[in-house]
Amino acid sequence: MKIELSDNKVFFKNNGSKKEIHPFWLRERVNGKDFIDKGSQQRLFDPTELKENIKIKNVSLSERYLKVAFDDGVETKLTVQSILKEFSNVNDIELIEKIEWDSSLNNLNNFEFSNNIFEEKMMYEALISFYKYGFVIFKKVPTKNNFIVKFANSIGSIRRTNFGEFFNVKSKPNPNDLAYTSLPLAPHTDNPYRNPVPCIQLLHCIENEVSGGYSTLVDGYTVTGKLKKDYPNYFKILTEIKIKYQFIDQDVILEDWSEMIKLDENKNFKQVRFSPRLDFVPLIDKEKLDLYYAARNKISELYNSDKYRLEFKLVPGDLLMMDNYRLLHGRTSYDANEGNRFLQGCYIDYDSTEGKLKHLKRKYKI
Ligand SMILES: [Fe+2]
Repeated sequence: MKIELSDNKVFFKNNGSKKEIHPFWLRERVNGKDFIDKGSQQRLFDPTELKENIKIKNVSLSERYLKVAFDDGVETKLTVQSILKEFSNVNDIELIEKIEWDSSLNNLNNFEFSNNIFEEKMMYEALISFYKYGFVIFKKVPTKNNFIVKFANSIGSIRRTNFGEFFNVKSKPNPNDLAYTSLPLAPHTDNPYRNPVPCIQLLHCIENEVSGGYSTLVDGYTVTGKLKKDYPNYFKILTEIKIKYQFIDQDVILEDWSEMIKLDENKNFKQVRFSPRLDFVPLIDKEKLDLYYAARNKISELYNSDKYRLEFKLVPGDLLMMDNYRLLHGRTSYDANEGNRFLQGCYIDYDSTEGKLKHLKRKYKI
């Protein structure tokens, strides 16, 4: 990639192709204290108020800088590196390659908490690990005074839901969700009925005195990859039919329609939703439903299979951070008479982890 000049025009050259850079694109990027606020890096001018046929009056290029004078009297000096970076159009997060895993994974991505961790390089490493595996566990996180709220807000901002800013997971009388019982919970994703679905769940173990109550995780990315390979027609229909997810409580009804496996615009994995107590398949052709139900049974079988399920015990202080678009989670049953089992949970969205990761990358010049 390089920049070239010819005839008062600026060109971008890449892999044998040469394209002119629109003068207005450069004009929008003028810097200097009259045009950009130093603190916020935000524009002090509104480009929609400029005439759009602005031309370049004069331009010169050195190894590091592009100097441009426009015909509206404005001059600027842009770094070549900043222009090339924009053309490479790379999102740091998309560059992190997901690692497929199953029950044989024995590295549980542990990072030990310290008071300064949110500004330390270790947090950057933990977040990279989170994007690779879909989860990370912080050890020895303080368990007093709902610390989970502080933890979440130190990465980004908590995503409040109708379960509150955070929720307490322990068995209680008259529960409005099976999470608040001692029953086993099969692998599921949280809040599939919400729009948008909360991206990341934090689950903090405060007490765990029971012999059961193991936490379980399944990688939806691995399982849907397996389904695509071995049962392409099942994979296809689960990525095509939108179903309704619904949650009904005393004072709210939440509904959202989505495919069980959602792909992005390039047909790559984006999100799974799975919560077989809350989904409603639309009334479509019987033959299609035959295929749909067979596909749903197969993916349920895979999600619930020992081959893909990680099972481990959270101990007090452990804080599990998991990607609710990629992983399914659950727990084994426990006997509430054996003692207390108390977890606190909350949600954050991707902009929190992405923003923190990019900040730490900048801070440590990684
Ligand atoms: Fe859950």
